[in-house]
Amino acid sequence: MARPLVCVSDYAEEARRLLPLSVLTYYQSGALDEVTLKENKEAMNRWYIRPRLLRDLSQRSTSTTILGHTVSAPIGVAPTAMQRMASTDGECANARATERFGTVFTMSSLSTSSIEEVAQHAPSSLRFFQVRIYKDREVTAKQVRRAEAAGFSAVVLTVDAPIAGIRRENKRTKFTLPSHLKTANFVTNNDMSSRMNTSAGGFDVYEYMNSLFDPTINWGDVAWLKRLTKLPIVLKGILTAEDALLGLEAGAAAIWVSNHGARQVDGVPPTIEALPEIVKAVDGRCEVYVDGGFSSGTHIFKALALGAQMVFLGRPLLWGLTCEGEEGAYNILNILQQELDSTMALSGCATVKDITRDMVLRKEYYSRL
Ligand code: LAC
Repeated sequence: MARPLVCVSDYAEEARRLLPLSVLTYYQSGALDEVTLKENKEAMNRWYIRPRLLRDLSQRSTSTTILGHTVSAPIGVAPTAMQRMASTDGECANARATERFGTVFTMSSLSTSSIEEVAQHAPSSLRFFQVRIYKDREVTAKQVRRAEAAGFSAVVLTVDAPIAGIRRENKRTKFTLPSHLKTANFVTNNDMSSRMNTSAGGFDVYEYMNSLFDPTINWGDVAWLKRLTKLPIVLKGILTAEDALLGLEAGAAAIWVSNHGARQVDGVPPTIEALPEIVKAVDGRCEVYVDGGFSSGTHIFKALALGAQMVFLGRPLLWGLTCEGEEGAYNILNILQQELDSTMALSGCATVKDITRDMVLRKEYYSRL
């Protein structure tokens, strides 16, 4: 009998067995030497939880809000590209799982289901749309208009990817999108939708991305995007206090601390370490989110204690989709919520608001005692 899958790493291990090598390496790779990829995970263990005891924990809730919307847990779904490589319904299954669980689904613009399909499959889900600034600004503008029309509630601008990072494993496996799939949001631009599949002639996914992304993007483009839409704008990929403050000035509704799953600049800090600097700089003037290497309830607890409003996860949902489709994605969210609830209860927190800054300390503190 198959071993039951009871935690994110069980799903990850099973997904590694199931996925074709080139898809697996596309999903799991980090940039260059993958130092930050490893650090994203290891850094979680550098923070220790200081549990408080003997508090009444009989009435507990993991519920919170994001940009004014109530969600069942401070656990959101991060954008990851091309989810139909993991399961037949890809983004639609992930959005439905998120809808059932009651949190936010951030849809990647490089998706294999279209904006409208996702909205149709999960009509009452809370949906954010991730965008990039393309060389042809009209491509971005059209996608934003379609997301508005399809009932998405925020625009998440990826600011850390003027070009695609180098992931060596993808070069080795010569990753391209399988031929039966399309990058569905480009259907009106025939050449763009089909070229992702073309490996012949060395046209790989990086050349494809780099031919579309605009390396000139700058703070002026954030202002342009703000003029384009009334939806709140979240800036995803911020790693410094300086950029967080520029983001605030540019009118961002939230700063999303991210190193793009360690896929862009190798050698940047793990996100849980970058988070406190940004929380301090922002000082409550906008919401702060984080992603990168989170795979258990204790990790989420630590980020909340450090001041994140919401923790997003990308790869764990891909492992859930790979193993069990929509049910797997739903199970991943449930497992994480149960682990967070357990950590909260055993640390004296009945609600998310009870998770305060004094409840985590760096490891060094204990060795200095
Ligand atoms: C990636 C791009 C699509 O990380 O954001 O693969």
